[in-house]
Amino acid sequence: MLAQKRILLIIGGGIAAYKSLDLIRKLRERGASVTPVLTKAATEFVTPMSVSALAASKVYQELFDLTDEAEMGHIELSRAADLIVVAPATADLMAKAVAGHANDLASTLLLATDTEILYAPSMNVRMWEHAATQRNVAQLKRDGAALVGPNEGDMACGEFGPGRMSEPLEIVAAIEAKLSDGPLAGRRVLVTSGPTHEPIDPVRYIANRSSGAQGTAIAAALASLGAEVVFVTGPADVPPPDGVHVVKVQSAREMLEAVESSLPVDAAVFAAAVADWRVSNTSSSKMKKGAQGLPELNFVENPDILASVSGHAMRPNLVVGFAAETDDVVENATAKRKRKGCDWIVANDVSPETGIMGGDENAVVLISDRGAETWPRMGKTEVAARLAQNIASAIAD
Ligand code: C5P
Repeated sequence: MLAQKRILLIIGGGIAAYKSLDLIRKLRERGASVTPVLTKAATEFVTPMSVSALAASKVYQELFDLTDEAEMGHIELSRAADLIVVAPATADLMAKAVAGHANDLASTLLLATDTEILYAPSMNVRMWEHAATQRNVAQLKRDGAALVGPNEGDMACGEFGPGRMSEPLEIVAAIEAKLSDGPLAGRRVLVTSGPTHEPIDPVRYIANRSSGAQGTAIAAALASLGAEVVFVTGPADVPPPDGVHVVKVQSAREMLEAVESSLPVDAAVFAAAVADWRVSNTSSSKMKKGAQGLPELNFVENPDILASVSGHAMRPNLVVGFAAETDDVVENATAKRKRKGCDWIVANDVSPETGIMGGDENAVVLISDRGAETWPRMGKTEVAARLAQNIASAIAD
């Protein structure tokens, strides 16, 4: 999808710069050409030699390098690209871009360009959460820039939280979404998938048999139409697709939190098999069998993620739920659509004799305000492709 695309990659000075080497490889594997620019600080983390070798390109570093100006001036360099990617985007680089500084090659290119810019922030969690950075991020978005990440996790500095640069494949996905000319280009879509695990004690949990196959196929189909896909998945059997932003969760409550923090999106598809109940009296240490007899588990209801998002202040334009039914599929799913407040319900009959649960095929009925549309039995990837097409038509206008 990136064949012939020209990426100007600005590598900032952060420990995540090593991931940018892999990013260069992944972009080139997909047919893109990469013109690298290193800030002075970046050369403390990666060498111009390795960047140049991986990119098979000259590395640009100095604003006042006359050879570069003779070959390609900084204005031209900033515009001869389909997309400018800043990875890692340090707090300093973003602050400079917001203020309009032009005191080195990277900041000058960001100021001189008329090309879209994608930032992949990377910094310590406190720096990311600082009001100054948050102000700068908001301003960059207002100025028309896009961001991918940062992710939450362990950081090189030993702290934990948001600030880790997105993984190379996630950045590739964001680049593909930006440069795609598919019908969902520029649209952001959320997909939930897989089962949830609800803990009983530190080693035991309650789960269900969802493989995550249908949700994964839907996420892949939406990405192939050019959408930027946020894929919130419980512990599924099938690996997440390439080209999507993956958020891994365990429990229903974690899934709700991940979903809410991914808003706003243009459309959301809730394919996850979320546990209806969780154990309220979980044990912080492993339960033992013994004289006290059988453990007594108490249950509470989990939040309904689909219903919450349907009624959310940042409700997506299109909310799609699933309904796995064993009887009166259309009646039950129609009632569910009303009850949950979503726009569409993809209903299917999961009676054991259909072989759908855990199988490769699905037979669905799409319930919307226009009634029930029965689709012929087909492979789960075909269901996904058709649903993605329907979503594209619905949110394109
Ligand atoms: O009520 P039921 O579980 O049959 O509804 C299924 C739909 O609701 C699916 O789209 C599922 O992803 C979503 N759901 C949810 N949160 C729950 C339960 C179900 O998002 N707690």
